[in-house]
Amino acid sequence: MTIAFIGAGNMAGSLIRGLKTSGTPAGHIVAADPAQAQLNALANLGIKTTTDNAVAVDTADIVVLAIKPQITGSVLQQLPPLKRHQLVISIVAGIDMRSLQDWLPNEQPIVRCMPNTPALLGAGITGLFANSSVNDAQRQEAQDILNGVGSSVWVAEETQLDAVTAVSGSGPAYYFLLMESMVASARALGLDADTSRKLVAETARGAALMACEPDADPATLRRNVTSPGGTTEAALNVMQEQGLPTTVENALKAAKDRAEALALEFGSDA
Ligand SMILES: NC(=O)c1ccc[n+]([C@@H]2O[C@H](COP(=O)([O-])OP(=O)(O)OC[C@H]3O[C@@H](n4cnc5c(N)ncnc54)[C@H](OP(=O)(O)O)[C@@H]3O)[C@@H](O)[C@H]2O)c1
Repeated sequence: MTIAFIGAGNMAGSLIRGLKTSGTPAGHIVAADPAQAQLNALANLGIKTTTDNAVAVDTADIVVLAIKPQITGSVLQQLPPLKRHQLVISIVAGIDMRSLQDWLPNEQPIVRCMPNTPALLGAGITGLFANSSVNDAQRQEAQDILNGVGSSVWVAEETQLDAVTAVSGSGPAYYFLLMESMVASARALGLDADTSRKLVAETARGAALMACEPDADPATLRRNVTSPGGTTEAALNVMQEQGLPTTVENALKAAKDRAEALALEFGSDA
């Protein structure tokens, strides 16, 4: 099984490290990028590299697209026609399945993915959607590659990938904003910057670990730590009264709408 990466940037580097950790031999991985400096950064992983995308895909069983949305159409149209058995995995944000199919040969098996930034630390979560040409073995291969940088969920409809984008794709930034606000508030309450940052980040880590336990339910976790008349209840009452749930709902809707609009901006109809 040979895996070719088109684009050797941050996400490709993380996916390649994940593959190696899970046992894929370096000799079975090739990365293509016009920037030799990007390829040099991956040289210590022992993989094959090339500045020619066509060379990378020639003998590949799987082709992973890890390039920017703006250039995806031209890169795919310049590739030699892929063979029917070659699975294409796209992690390109905002390029929909119809555009990928327009730019690739008919009935090419394609898995479209939406990973998120914590994948760079092996702690990502990815939404995956397969077209009807993808067989069961290829679904498993795509899932295995993305699970190398965290975990994954399949969606049955492509429109659900826009919801995944709104929840987990953009989600890390929502938590960063909350943490930023908490750090500022901690400082206003008299704590120094380092202490504030550490308290906030470690609290986020601890809460996330509890929420990631099997069968954990955020509402139950919240109730369990909220004593009547206590400090947590005082804070949560302010958040509820000042409309935090409605703000979150509107924010995620805005992100989903923007994901739909971006697909039109960079897609094959643009
Ligand atoms: N990073 C994330 O957290 C994240 C999350 C979800 C989705 N994504 C998606 O993943 C994709 C890659 O993101 P990234 O963060 O890895 O970006 P990146 O670090 O900029 O990597 C893209 C790489 O593609 C190279 N490239 C440019 N033109 C090329 C060509 N014609 N052929 C082959 N390679 C070419 C770029 O080289 P130059 O730098 O020289 O242009 C760069 O090394 C994007 O579509 C992004 O939307 C990323």
